[in-house]
Amino acid sequence: MKKVLMVCLGNICRSPLAEGILKSKVDTSKVFVDSAGTAAYHEGELPDSRSIQVARRYHIDLTDQRARKFVVEDFDKFDFIYAMDQSNYYNIELLARDEEDTAKVKMILNESYPNQDRQVPDPYYGGDQGFENVYNMLNEACEIIKVHLENEG
Ligand code: 4NP
Repeated sequence: MKKVLMVCLGNICRSPLAEGILKSKVDTSKVFVDSAGTAAYHEGELPDSRSIQVARRYHIDLTDQRARKFVVEDFDKFDFIYAMDQSNYYNIELLARDEEDTAKVKMILNESYPNQDRQVPDPYYGGDQGFENVYNMLNEACEIIKVHLENEG
């Protein structure tokens, strides 16, 4: 079983969307997908209502998700850890114990735009269009992640 973890800051806007989108594309009996935040501000909360709404428009339900903080044990549990932006990447890397841990961490948009270190903008303080934009970026990246996961058997 391949295990993929999506990580943002609060685990209420971007990474819940990434989790829901990837789950909708893969066989979840073969791929385990979860998400976490580098901060604990929203621990135990549902995803942001704007993330829930944009996902719902694409027939993806996020309401079984609850926010949690990224913990060092996630390096042991997951094969691939996707950061939404540079700050998430840096905060995850700070917890890495060795090079094996570090090698698991990738910027998610490097899947769709290799080596460009593009970031998924934080939509928290913006309007609904920001969430649609984030959805589209994540959908494109997750389509590629899905193909990689399938090709790797
Ligand atoms: P996320 O967005 O990292 O995509 O979940 C945010 C959610 C909450 C906060 C910041 C970003 N916050 O400052 O509470």
